[in-house]
Amino acid sequence: AGSYEHLLVSKPAPGVRLLTLNRPKALNALNNALVSEINHAITTANQDKEIGAIVITGSERAFAAGADIKAMKDLNFAKAYGGNFISHWSDQINSRKPIIAAVNGYALGGGCEIAMMADILYAGDKAVFGQPEIKLGTMPGAGGTQRLTRAIGKVRAMELILTGRNFTAQEAFDWGLAARVFPAEKLLDEAVKAAAEIAGNAPLAVMACKDAVNQAFESSLSTGVRYERNIFYGLFGSEDRREGMTAFVEKRKAEWKGE
Ligand code: CAA
Repeated sequence: AGSYEHLLVSKPAPGVRLLTLNRPKALNALNNALVSEINHAITTANQDKEIGAIVITGSERAFAAGADIKAMKDLNFAKAYGGNFISHWSDQINSRKPIIAAVNGYALGGGCEIAMMADILYAGDKAVFGQPEIKLGTMPGAGGTQRLTRAIGKVRAMELILTGRNFTAQEAFDWGLAARVFPAEKLLDEAVKAAAEIAGNAPLAVMACKDAVNQAFESSLSTGVRYERNIFYGLFGSEDRREGMTAFVEKRKAEWKGE
């Protein structure tokens, strides 16, 4: 799985790759090196046939407290625009295997944005979310204005982004940003359990479901429904689809081959 400077990589359950952000002194503030390591680990997990789902987490104190302000302080327009600053931060959305973000503690700015890029967001009950960039005289730059708005609606996103106010795990849940809230100490176990459950499903079907759900944000309803149906037709070409339905009829557990 590779060894990294700011990231711990492990396999806590069959089929699950766990990525733990590990820059404790900076509350997991995100710099280019850390994000590149996350991307590399996700790419590696995508290439590994043993892995079916990925969990990304931080510490109990901080998932990630945002982009590294110290590293950003002296950036200018030429370096940011010319150097395509943070464009690779969104690379995790290219993962074809599902990613669960397990968020304890602070998920602020870029930390909130990285969590929102995941396919499923689980929160510990003491998690603190926010897009506080406005307080630094800037704005979200890694998808916050887009993903938060799609997840919780315009007026809530507008209020949070314009005030820079934090919000709680319970609010994230009530507003549809977090799929579930768990006691902080149980969060990671629950995220790993869900990832293992996903990894135990037919890999091509998992990939197809993720692809089709994501399409819901990219097209009209009728186009999306057609997109879904075409992938659904495609799955009739997979051996696992035949196995899944045969196993049901024969009242036995299906055995997936990933084909
Ligand atoms: N960048 C760099 N360093 C950070 C950091 C960040 N985003 N967040 C925390 N740290 C560092 C602090 O500087 C401190 O290090 P030193 O002791 O060396 O000074 C260490 O982490 C611990 O932080 P605090 O002492 O501040 O801890 P606290 O418990 O008092 O406060 C906090 C915690 C409320 C999260 C506070 O650290 C904070 O407000 N952090 C910044 C949050 C923020 O504004 N994030 C948005 C960044 S901009 C962005 O993300 C742009 C984008 O969209 C891509």
